[in-house]
Amino acid sequence: MAVPAVEIQQYSALDEAAYQDRIQAARAALGDRLVILGHHYQREEVFRHADYAGDSLKLSRLAADSQAEYTIFCGVHFMAEVADILSRPEQVVILPDLAAGCSMADMANLAKVSRAWRELGKVLDPDESITPVTYINSVAELKAFCGQHGGLVCTSSNARQVLEWSFERREKVLFFPDEHLGRNTAHAMGMPLDDMVVWDFNQPMGGLTPDQIRSARLILWKGFCSVHQLFKPEHIDNFLARYPDAKVISHPEASFEVCQKSHVVGSTESIIKTVAESPPGTRWLVGTELNLVNRLHEQYKHEGKSVHFMSPTICMCSTMFRIDPCHLLWVLENLLEGRVVNRIMVPENEAAQARVALQRMLEL
Ligand code: 13P
Ligand code: SF4
Repeated sequence: MAVPAVEIQQYSALDEAAYQDRIQAARAALGDRLVILGHHYQREEVFRHADYAGDSLKLSRLAADSQAEYTIFCGVHFMAEVADILSRPEQVVILPDLAAGCSMADMANLAKVSRAWRELGKVLDPDESITPVTYINSVAELKAFCGQHGGLVCTSSNARQVLEWSFERREKVLFFPDEHLGRNTAHAMGMPLDDMVVWDFNQPMGGLTPDQIRSARLILWKGFCSVHQLFKPEHIDNFLARYPDAKVISHPEASFEVCQKSHVVGSTESIIKTVAESPPGTRWLVGTELNLVNRLHEQYKHEGKSVHFMSPTICMCSTMFRIDPCHLLWVLENLLEGRVVNRIMVPENEAAQARVALQRMLEL
């Protein structure tokens, strides 16, 4: 009989030094059998244990190329699902806390997107005229939906290439779940705002008239990231009033108004690269998750760069924050004893279709 897993409660009372020492020891003992992937938004106490760090695109490529028996994904649920979909069946993907979800990903599901597709079908033939594009921040079944309907996945790093690919094939795009990434990307490609409509998934026909649907080129799902929506144009105005020479950089999940006022708009990986490559003395205002901004500040202050967080209130990704040293140690020490806890497994029928949509993206 399998030995039952050690319960997480047995780990909750350790002090920080004990977590760190035991994580290092367990990680070392597992050697090449394990790879730890960490998203840039992870808190420092966890991030330092990642073998590889990245944004969601980089981490999905790393997961696809990994030869390790086990992957511990220090990120959120949809990222671990992608790692499972892209890895071999015998490779095991673990998310240290199953409650580490993504509130934006939860704003779309298969029932709602299928209903939208049916309702759009009353006005036009969606499989002829619409490419469904899902942001990687979505459940696996939506990636499978895109695979089945000639669509694909995008991340914030490649959304432009994905939209270009899509418009070469069909006249319209249904983009979910993030309204803002879709609008900011298409606008930067030169699409007028009048060519875009917002699909309110809580209303019949998305709250749109047949004429609005017929004339739109981009149909944007009314979803958003609660972290990136906390940044406001006035935060930029106030900062630039104090530091007129400062530069502003924002993640494209931020609102259109914030992105329009930013000097640079880019994915997590491109924010890191832009700050790294900027000349010494540059002052940055950054509109993305707090852990990353704090890390950039620490990393570049010795070069005389100063990196400021855009909002006066704390905007952390609270779900990413659930991955803490306690959960990381818990899954690691169970693995050492041959027990897999919190495995993420996407059913193969769903994974096969989702893989089609992910491969279309990875081949771009
Ligand atoms: P990246 O694709 O930039 O990693 O963003 C993922 C995410 O969840 C941002 O909120
Ligand atoms: Fe989801 Fe926003 Fe967290 Fe990114 S920052 S994982 S979009 S809740």
